[in-house]
Amino acid sequence: MTNLISIENLSMTYGSPARPILSGIDMSIAEGEFVCVLGQTGCGKSTLLRLVLGSEQPTRGQVLVDGERHLRPDWTRGYVPQKYALFPDRTVLDNITFGPEVREFNLFTRMMPRFFRRRRELRMHAMDYLMRIGLREADATKYPDQLSGGMQQRVAIAQALMTQPRILLMDEAFSALDPGTRRDMQKLIRQLWRDTRTTVLFVTHNTQEALSMATRVVVLAKEDPAHGSRVMLDMALNQPCREDEMPRLIAKVEGVCGSSRDPESALFSGEELPDKILL
Ligand SMILES: Nc1ncnc2c1ncn2[C@@H]1O[C@H](COP(=O)(O)OP(=O)(O)O)[C@@H](O)[C@H]1O
Ligand SMILES: [Mg+2]
Repeated sequence: MTNLISIENLSMTYGSPARPILSGIDMSIAEGEFVCVLGQTGCGKSTLLRLVLGSEQPTRGQVLVDGERHLRPDWTRGYVPQKYALFPDRTVLDNITFGPEVREFNLFTRMMPRFFRRRRELRMHAMDYLMRIGLREADATKYPDQLSGGMQQRVAIAQALMTQPRILLMDEAFSALDPGTRRDMQKLIRQLWRDTRTTVLFVTHNTQEALSMATRVVVLAKEDPAHGSRVMLDMALNQPCREDEMPRLIAKVEGVCGSSRDPESALFSGEELPDKILL
């Protein structure tokens, strides 16, 4: 396997005076890996994902994709942010088809018959994703504010998948979903990953979720408050992770995270949990 993502001596600080968030992160991710990033709230998981996306640049070090630095997001990287961000004035179906439409057509080529043919194709394709993420046909014409938080998040996932990115970046993408839907989405993402061999970087604070999905688990944590988080554990997993191995691996990961609780299974409200409960 060749390296697709190389994170080299990456450090990130915010604010003035500079507050270190990440310090000296080194990580190589090969094409086709499914990497879950774990760590306590505030340890810099979302920051790391944004640096790989290219929407932010590191204070030190670099992120290379295929050996090159990327200074802004592009279609090679699909991104599902922690807070879903759909276009409020577009229907569900138009939200899902937005990416490929913008990618394939500009203002002028949108006038051509080819656009309308392709649009019909994309809408059929989007309908397929809509069903796979567990929404109904009737939801296709709804607007985001007519959907629950969990349903909006599922649309955001379909939106990212529609562009068939080489790298899929997901930031706590399942935390607003109820447990049943969450398990279905875990299966769907695993299935898509198996079918397409997309490289996945998946942030979660749910250890069990990470162990049941990933081929590799990376834990970020701070060794001391003067420095940012570092990679404290980088562990390849047997595939699939055996049920009888779970308790030992959960203990190992959570020993490094400094947390032995899974806030979601202990206190599930169906909506995203406030940060203070996750600490
Ligand atoms: N744009 C920003 N400006 C200033 N501080 C930020 C910014 N983004 C994140 N932070 C801070 O960086 C730290 C890590 O944040 P984040 O990457 O969101 O952590 P996590 O996703 O692990 O919960 C937090 O203390 C957060 O407040
Ligand atoms: Mg985060």
